[in-house]
Amino acid sequence: MPDAAKRHDPPRFDPTVPNVARMYDYYLGGKNNFAADREAAEQALTFAPELREGAHEARKFLSRVVFFLADEGIRQFIDLGCGLPTQGNVHEVAQGRAPGSRVVYVDNDPVVVAHARALLENNPLAVAIHGDLRQVGDVLADPALRRHLDFTQPVAVLLFSVLHVIADDEVCQRIMDEARESVPDGSYFAISHFVSDLNPDAYAKVAGVYRDKVDIPAHRRTTMRSSAEVIPFFAGLEMVEPGLVYLPRWRPDAADLDRGLPEVSAVGGVGRKLSVS
Ligand SMILES: C[S@@+](CC[C@H](N)C(=O)[O-])C[C@H]1O[C@@H](n2cnc3c(N)ncnc32)[C@H](O)[C@@H]1O
Repeated sequence: MPDAAKRHDPPRFDPTVPNVARMYDYYLGGKNNFAADREAAEQALTFAPELREGAHEARKFLSRVVFFLADEGIRQFIDLGCGLPTQGNVHEVAQGRAPGSRVVYVDNDPVVVAHARALLENNPLAVAIHGDLRQVGDVLADPALRRHLDFTQPVAVLLFSVLHVIADDEVCQRIMDEARESVPDGSYFAISHFVSDLNPDAYAKVAGVYRDKVDIPAHRRTTMRSSAEVIPFFAGLEMVEPGLVYLPRWRPDAADLDRGLPEVSAVGGVGRKLSVS
């Protein structure tokens, strides 16, 4: 199944029900997953074997985006739907490039937040809070987040591989609109999103695995979004070059270009909130 009765909001620790964060950890070769997660992930992989490479490319995209933002002078990062800690977490990348960068990790899965807090015990510049991005206004007003960040200065809001697990287009659009209104001018938004474009049938089946088996509240999608359906999420933002593209094509570094860019079914982009005046 798992039947609707096993769906929890927020996700509750149950190793017998596949969990979105642990399945992603499995695609990335991590150890924080159980048999039920591996079984569901393997089923998704039979339909779309490139999911594993897509997840790795998504993490590489994350690093390139954080480098770019640090080079643009951003020193405050909010990682929404941060997932289980892995290699190259946002605070490691950001603080490696720009020491002193402050990071707030947010996830609606309490187990993810507990893992993040354990990792961050000795890093006063990074904190993890529990929050549901479907209530992004509350998340961005959370006192712990506001104590940690200075909202008179721009922030970067990162939504990596998370909007595609939120079924409703209107909910995603509202998340983006509310978040954009809540942050200072000059703030950036980065999104990565798996898409159906290259193989719609396979990704309809992948969406089915998540809809039917995985502990994601109210997940009703029968298809994965196409890249055209992701573009509106950047409304009100000025796109950074090269726009919304397949992840490996977003500002690849020289080593990536030498190796040749793989084809993966996920897109990403960065947009900047302009000042109104
Ligand atoms: C596929 S993982 C991506 C993790 C990480 N951002 C990355 O790119 O590696 C999606 C994460 O989003 C979290 N998530 C899903 N729905 C959420 C929601 N409504 N609010 C906050 N986090 C959510 C899941 O718990 C999971 O940790």
